[in-house]
Amino acid sequence: MSCGAAESADGARLKRSDTLYRIVVMRTAVRRLAALAAPLLACAPEVTFTKDIAPILQAKCQSCHRPGQIAPMSLLTYQEARPYAHAIRMSVAIGNMPPFYAAGPPGYFKDDIRLTEKEKQLLADWANADAPEGDPALLPAPIAWDDSEWPLGEPDLVLHFPRHSPRPNYKDQYVTLVSDQALAEDTWVRALHLKTQSKQVIHHSTLFLWDPATEMPEGGMSLEHINPKENPLFTWFPGFLADPLPPGQAILLPKGWRVAGRTHFAPTRTRVSEEMALGIYHADGPIDSVQKNIAVFIGDLRIPPGKSDYTRTERMEFPEDAQLSHFRVHMHLRGKSAKFILNYPDGSKREIFDLLRYRFAWQRYYYLAEPLTVPKGTVAEFVGVWDNSAANPQNPDPTMWCFTGRRTIDEMFGATIFYTPLAKLAIPLRIEKGRRVDGSGPMGQERGSSQLL
Ligand code: HEC
Repeated sequence: MSCGAAESADGARLKRSDTLYRIVVMRTAVRRLAALAAPLLACAPEVTFTKDIAPILQAKCQSCHRPGQIAPMSLLTYQEARPYAHAIRMSVAIGNMPPFYAAGPPGYFKDDIRLTEKEKQLLADWANADAPEGDPALLPAPIAWDDSEWPLGEPDLVLHFPRHSPRPNYKDQYVTLVSDQALAEDTWVRALHLKTQSKQVIHHSTLFLWDPATEMPEGGMSLEHINPKENPLFTWFPGFLADPLPPGQAILLPKGWRVAGRTHFAPTRTRVSEEMALGIYHADGPIDSVQKNIAVFIGDLRIPPGKSDYTRTERMEFPEDAQLSHFRVHMHLRGKSAKFILNYPDGSKREIFDLLRYRFAWQRYYYLAEPLTVPKGTVAEFVGVWDNSAANPQNPDPTMWCFTGRRTIDEMFGATIFYTPLAKLAIPLRIEKGRRVDGSGPMGQERGSSQLL
């Protein structure tokens, strides 16, 4: 007996004629009862690729799992997905995929690719049923992915980086590349997009503004030569498309400065040749606010060997009324989880970010679906937890004390809340095609604190 066949037959009939609607409703009710009894009768409706799995892969996985993107295999078609049915079940069960590790009610985050419990169950049932294909007529239309070089459109200006080939030696490699060109004039931008070729090899790239008045060190530049706190632009992550700034906001790329990209190449066996390019999109129109952030860094972590829940908290106050937009946490291999809690001036508390699981490989921004307004004087509490025990599979050495440091085998805690001040600038800046057309004003000083993302 096949429950799946009965179900798809009903579905087809429903499409064919409305007069059968009532019959189908009755049948649906009967089928629901059958589904409840299914574990007893071992007669659950058959889970198939075309009906149940393809829609999940489209909504939650294919942004990365398609040709030319960062994931190692494509999950567009049945033929492509079928061999991975069990890998998918495993990966979902242990919580590795999809790579979105924050908790929160549905609708709290933007670009939320978390799976529902039902979707997890369908993926597991499908694998356990030996990954049947199902009725091809039920396959949803493929998503028309935008695979153009510049998903935000043709940039107004492109800065190129020198070509780089990481050694194919299975090791993580960090390299700081500086744009060939400097900015010819003060440029106000509304969006940046980093174009990369070797998406599966570039793990992330953090872009900074670099003032060439500071001398280029022999042997090239490394992070020590940049002041990342003053001039960060944004970090590009695989599978990540930077949203343009909201209207009324822009950031300044100062004349004569270059952009430096501190890039992490993941271990690779094949030789790739990467030539990154940064697309710059001019701001246009009145600018009346900047994006800012409050950020903490803990410089004195002392994590005992074997400790599975070393916890540290750092606080920082909002200096003005703010609209929070997104969050970021940076730790290394022993990072385990993090939380951000707001302590409002009236004494109330609210947890606004719960990163259940920190994974060094997946350090992304978490955007709120709707900005959250907090009053001046609110104190943000940033809590980080580390696991220096042998239970952490990433731990390079559970027998060692671990301290704050730059090396991946050291630890870090950087945590950031990005916000826009509620108060607008009294006199908006006038920007035309990336150029300031109203003389000098208060925004000139904002270059250090303004961030694109
Ligand atoms: C943001 C990009 C992204 C999304 C979205 C994504 N993946 Fe992945 N996936 C990757 C990358 C990159 C890898 C290889 C590196 C890794 O495992 O972290 C991977 C690896 C995998 C693997 C290999 C085994 C494993 O556990 O590492 C499976 C299976 C997998 N993904 C399934 C899925 C499924 C199913 C979804 C959707 C529910 C999904 N992925 C969503 C990027 C993504």
